[in-house]
Amino acid sequence: MSRLLLTGANGFVGPLLTARAQQAGYQVIALTGRLLANHPVSDEQIVCDIRDAQSLAEAVAQAQPTHILHLAAISHVPTSFNDPLRTWQTNVMGSVNLLEAVRQHAPKAFVLFASSSEVYGAAFKAGIAVDEQTRCEPLNPYAASKLAAESAFREYFRQGMKGVIARPFNHIGAQQSADFVTASFARQIALIESGQQSPILKVGNLQASRDFLDVQDVCGAYLKLLKLADSSDYPRCMNIASGQSRKISDVLDLLLSLSTVPVTVELDPERLRPSDIPVAVGSSDCLKHTTGWQPTIALEDTLRGLLDYWRQQVNRKAL
Ligand code: GDD
Repeated sequence: MSRLLLTGANGFVGPLLTARAQQAGYQVIALTGRLLANHPVSDEQIVCDIRDAQSLAEAVAQAQPTHILHLAAISHVPTSFNDPLRTWQTNVMGSVNLLEAVRQHAPKAFVLFASSSEVYGAAFKAGIAVDEQTRCEPLNPYAASKLAAESAFREYFRQGMKGVIARPFNHIGAQQSADFVTASFARQIALIESGQQSPILKVGNLQASRDFLDVQDVCGAYLKLLKLADSSDYPRCMNIASGQSRKISDVLDLLLSLSTVPVTVELDPERLRPSDIPVAVGSSDCLKHTTGWQPTIALEDTLRGLLDYWRQQVNRKAL
């Protein structure tokens, strides 16, 4: 039986991935920072802060995983500017703690690290789809911490650990925190429609462009990458991208076209960042050739589902 240890199991991706992995035949051990009373789907749950090396070593020893997906991270770029220490401790030392725990207690396990397309940073300014050979030039503490963690993974891979690094681009969907752009916009529209917010939608930088994927397509890519545990020769780092860049203002227009009420858009200076990547777009050729992965869900469908999700959330809270 394949046993998948999932760090960050209580985040945005974790619960979806848990369900998909179980369908694919894995026993899922959810590693969460705090006890979740109704953790819906995992087979086992271990509570552990990944910054605590000893607890993490005990957790890995207890879990005895055959596969590990490391999702736990501070993943919000503005938070990384506001709290760089926690970002570095979680994203870098949390990863090193995991690697060391695996080396000691589950050395045969295959480890998939969810890094980020943010690592490319200033390299995006060339305006073309980046691939895994593009030089990384991070532009914020989150991106820099993910690149540092990648470096730790590469060192353990060099020493013989099995695994792969994924660089997912922006993935979105229901249950993502409204700290992120599409969830923020959809939530505000739902609040305005239900009369709980004045008809003014606050936004940050609308000129940026991002390469968006539905979170389910990213989960599909993770499952394909976990299968590489059965291969001996594969690239160690792969982008997960749609290959298309969408302007945030166009994404906003799409969501506004679905709104049932008129909405005024207003710039909120608090939502602007000290530095922001203007255009992000990636090539997934390597992932496609290696695993056969293809994205399947159109952005328009994801946005429609997202707005419906926030309508339900908002109406539930209003009851
Ligand atoms: N969050 C947010 N809120 N972003 C806004 C807003 C707003 O109201 N208005 C405009 N934006 C712009 C941001 O300035 C940025 O250019 C873009 O929308 C996307 O912002 P986020 O959704 O916060 O995502 P991100 O691109 O910074 O990072 C996400 O994608 C990475 C992968 O590419 C995160 O999910 C990261 O964790 C992930 O690694």
